[in-house]
Amino acid sequence: MTSRFKEYLISFIVSVCFVVIVTGCAGGSEVALTSDTVQHAIDFATTRLKQTAIQYGDSILFPRSTSDDGKWKTVPPRDWTSGFFPGCLWYMSDLKHDSMFQELAERWTVGLTEQQYLTQTHDIGFIIFNSFGKGYEFTNNESYKPIILQAAHSLMTRYNPKVGCIKSWDGRKWGYPVIIDNMMNLELLLWSSRNGGTQEMYDAAVSHARQTAKNHFRSDGSTYHVVDYDTLTGKVIAKETHQGFANESVWARGQAWAIYGFTMAYRYTHEPEFLEAATKSANWFIDHLPVDHVPYWDFMSPNIPNDEKDVSAAAIAGSALLELKNYTDNPAQKSKFEKSAFEIINTLCSSSYLAEGTNSCAILNHAVGNHPKDSEIDVSLIYADYYFLEALSRLTVINSKHGDAIK
Ligand code: GLY
Repeated sequence: MTSRFKEYLISFIVSVCFVVIVTGCAGGSEVALTSDTVQHAIDFATTRLKQTAIQYGDSILFPRSTSDDGKWKTVPPRDWTSGFFPGCLWYMSDLKHDSMFQELAERWTVGLTEQQYLTQTHDIGFIIFNSFGKGYEFTNNESYKPIILQAAHSLMTRYNPKVGCIKSWDGRKWGYPVIIDNMMNLELLLWSSRNGGTQEMYDAAVSHARQTAKNHFRSDGSTYHVVDYDTLTGKVIAKETHQGFANESVWARGQAWAIYGFTMAYRYTHEPEFLEAATKSANWFIDHLPVDHVPYWDFMSPNIPNDEKDVSAAAIAGSALLELKNYTDNPAQKSKFEKSAFEIINTLCSSSYLAEGTNSCAILNHAVGNHPKDSEIDVSLIYADYYFLEALSRLTVINSKHGDAIK
């Protein structure tokens, strides 16, 4: 055999191997997610992140969403989205094993140092854990640890034992609003409780997740966005929405936060209740997806199908499903979650959503920030890019375990 033919044969076997792994794990369904598709998305993301980092290199500004001309609108460190750009850089440094991305990730992460003392919002979890938390995960940089722990202490100041939850927002129309998004920020507490923090952090996170499992769900597995509590009695006062179409509709990103948040809570606690909550939110999400697997911004918007999609909800759910599939013992559920994750990611890698060839400076197009406020409609959002990169990273890990199919 000539060496050229040998090379060709090896590359052919590797490609076939990946397609077989993906379709095989998905229960034999024809999900055309290939190593080439994933690699193409990673290469495109590499270029985009590099361009953004060069553009904002001398500032401590954080890309959040794009404007009509496709350029990033940036925000200061205090914004709830500031941790996502450093988080994207951390994922890229890990995916590419590239010291340039690591240096950039360090620079943007350090720009968030002061936020460890933030006590006015639950979003300190997103801000600190996606930057310093990811940095610690990938590099074990010990100087990040006290910052993460201080942030966990700051978040604990928002915990009210009577309600059994962290208060999500200050200064809005509700007295003690707890939003479904808040599930995501429990990771700061759960991780910290294992890494030099306190038992109280763990207990508060578990209590918050239990209350959310009890009060944020409808009987069909869909979720409310906002639950308002009475701090004197600890009872629920109202179940409403802030970013969804209506109180009784299902805001797509909220449903995705529920899948991700409860999957993550199960990872740390192994509480069956949290696996059940993750499973029912995932089933509801998957069962209501449109044909291209990317939800409209609210599943019940009356304008569907002439309405905006929210790629951020798809990216969050796609990444979460790649983890959730590992926790279920039910083969049918496992197959359903895996198939859906592959379908979602495959669509996000397509020209319908990948921002390649468009004026957007981001990786993905077609997200919605806050539709009722007429804000960030059909734009690129940094958190869509973050969860997309996380999903690509999770996929490469899955495939390297099944025979180095991607790398
Ligand atoms: N946590 C805010 C949002 O999802 O829009």
